[in-house]
This record gives sequence, C-alpha cells and structure tokens, in this order.
Amino acid sequence: MTTAPFDFAPLLAAGLPPPAVKYAGFPKYNFVGGHNDAEHVPVEALTAAATAVLTREGRTLATYGLGSGPQGYRPLREFLVAKLGRDAGIACAADDILITSGSLQALDLVNGILLNRGDTVLIEQATYQGSLNRLARLGVNTVGIPLDRDGMRIDALAAALADLERRGVRPKYIYTIPTVQNPTGTILPEERRHALLRLAHQYAVPIFEDDCYADLIWDGKRPPALFAMSPHGGVIHIGSFSKSVAPALRVGYIVADWPLIARMLALKTDAGSGALEQMVLAEFCAQHFATHVPALTRGLRKKLDTLMEALAEQFGTAAEFDEPKGGIFLWVKLAEPVDTLKLYPVALAAGIALNPGAEWSTDKGDAKGRMRLCFANPSHAAIRAGVAALAEVCRKESGVPARIANVERRAARGS
Ligand SMILES: Cc1ncc(COP(=O)(O)O)c(C=O)c1O
Repeated sequence: MTTAPFDFAPLLAAGLPPPAVKYAGFPKYNFVGGHNDAEHVPVEALTAAATAVLTREGRTLATYGLGSGPQGYRPLREFLVAKLGRDAGIACAADDILITSGSLQALDLVNGILLNRGDTVLIEQATYQGSLNRLARLGVNTVGIPLDRDGMRIDALAAALADLERRGVRPKYIYTIPTVQNPTGTILPEERRHALLRLAHQYAVPIFEDDCYADLIWDGKRPPALFAMSPHGGVIHIGSFSKSVAPALRVGYIVADWPLIARMLALKTDAGSGALEQMVLAEFCAQHFATHVPALTRGLRKKLDTLMEALAEQFGTAAEFDEPKGGIFLWVKLAEPVDTLKLYPVALAAGIALNPGAEWSTDKGDAKGRMRLCFANPSHAAIRAGVAALAEVCRKESGVPARIANVERRAARGS
C-alpha cells in the first residue's frame, strides 16, 4: 500500500522567503561567495590546538557556555580585546564582546534590536548581498551612497542625510564596510572616517561598522576602526574569523556597549555559538594568528594578480576594475552591452559561477555590467582557465570582448 506523503504546504508560515535550491556541488570555476584559500587553512596548527584545548578543558563542554557565560568563550574574547586594540585601535573589555555564529548572526542581532518594517538605513551603494537581502526581507528602505576609490562618498552621505531630515526621516543606522569594502575593495581613509563620524553625530544616526575583511590588507596598514575613533560612541562594530582563518568555523563577533549587548543577548536564542570552534580558534590564534594572516594575505595577493592578468589577457579593455586594497574580491565592470544578470545563467551552464553586480548594489541599473569575482578559492590554473572560459561565453552571449587573448573574433559568426 502506498500512502501519499504528508503535505506541509498549507501549514507553512506566511511570508517565508523562496525555498533554497538543493546543493549540487560547486561549479568547475567557482568565483562566487566568500570562500577562502584551501592551501592556507592552517590544518596542522588547528589540529594541535584542538588536541591541546580539549585535553586541558574538554570537560567544560558539560555546561552550556563552557563556564564563560552566554557571551562566548572568554579566552577567545580576550584574544579579540588584544587584537582589536593592537590592529584597530579599539579599547574594549571582554564583556563588550559577544561571540556569534559567523558575522551573519551579528548582522541579524544588530538588525533585530534596531529595525522595524518601514525603517530607513543608509548603506554603501555597492555592498554585501547578505546585508541587502536581510534589509529587503525586513521591509527596510535602503538609501544607497555612491563610492569612489576611497570608499563611501561623504558629500553624497551628507546630501542623503540632509534630504532624509527634510522629509522627517531619521535613519536607523549607516551601514558601512570601511576597511576593504565588499565588493569594491576600498579602504575609507582616516579623514573620511572623521567626516563620517561628524555627520553621524550631527544627525544622531548610529554607525554599523562591518569589518570582516580588515585583516586582509596587502600592505598590512589600516586606519583605526570607526568604533575606536568615535568621540561620542554610537558605533556598533562586527567582525569575523571567516576571512582570516576559515568560513566553515562560523565564528564572528560584535563589539558594543553593554546595554546593546544585553539587548542582543536576549535575542540570541541558541544558548551559545559552537563551543569547539571557539575553543580551537582561541588556542590557535593566541600562538599563530600573527604569522598566519600575513602568509594568507600574500597568497591572496598572488591570486589577485593572476586574476587581473587573466582578465587583461582575455577581456582586454572590455573589463575594467580598480585594484582592491586587500580582501578576496575583484569588482569588475564589463563593457556595454553586457548584462551580468543575463550572463550569469549562461556562464553557470558552462561551469563558471560569478556574482552579478545587480545583486550587490542598491542601484541595479548602475551595476548592470558589473560582476564580483572571488579569487580566494580557485587555484591559479582554475582562475586562468575560468576567465578564458568566461570570455568565450560572454563573447557568444553579448559580443564582448570582441577580441579574446588579443585574437580578433567575429561574434556574429559565433566563432
Ligand atoms: C561584509 C560581510 N559581512 C558579513 C559577512 C558574513 O560572514 P560570516 O558569517 O562568515 O562571518 C560577509 C561574508 O561574506 C561579508 O562579506
């Protein structure tokens, strides 16, 4: 006897997002997402750290929170206090830090305590899709602020704030990725940071600083965090170990004053983020973070060079980009008439995954010819072959580039 499967469809909650697509493996040439360089996952040191910390403290796993309380494993928070003080100029205590399950959970918690449907936030025009999607789902209005080679344009921010004030709208926050911006790879210089803080103070709008790429800067130099520079507070800072160590660990953090942490803790209903990851990271970072990150960054820089060379060779002037100051992404502009939303499915069918620019921007039209390429995970050979394959697909689709690898082709003949 066969029975019909139980039908959950009529019981599903209202307002759910569209269902997820089933994982079918990564495409051959994978330039999407924020994956890291497999060669630089410090496997041996992580193994040794796991053994050491579990041997020493494994029995604390018997309690929720490892005896450190709900804010996360204390030695990891203490590592962060020292690291953020040294690198970002942030003076904070372990109690000002909340460990989260990736900085995605940090985004959710900050949004959770501040945002209501119909609210307005200011955000860099080209920005992280994960942030844009969250805001769209929450029914929050986004005002995109254009960027130039030095990150968010302060004149445009000033104009947007003045305009909102005229319309009686007080934005809930200014979301920014000031230190190696995603996707543009820009770093907001110190003077602009001061100007941004002044404007935020003038209009009484908090700043939401997402600093997850700040460790991956080619020359290792970064301006202080906005959190550190603000004379008036009003900044929430989040970060992650996804980019500096490994994304699958799912460890991020929030730095904020206790009244805000207290509000976020009340929303963090998972009884603590994964304990093993926190323990292993704390053990690993105390010894190796300072040498691991420069080695990782050097490897990433080489991959960026390979990608830029491959694009220049295969696309010539049909692909324009500014060199990022660090990170794992290149924000590329393809010549007219390329529409990367249309290119995306055709490229994917050919085994090449790219992020279409429109999904990473508040201005879909402006980003039509843009794509974001993550260069961290593919090998050098895959970067070269993937870009060559993409040029071929793009030319067939749109006639761009007219010349591939400096060889003129006739797009019309499909050769
Ligand atoms: C700007 C930005 N914020 C937050 C995240 C979330 O990362 P995770 O949850 O892995 O820390 C990402 C991931 O790519 C990102 O680019």
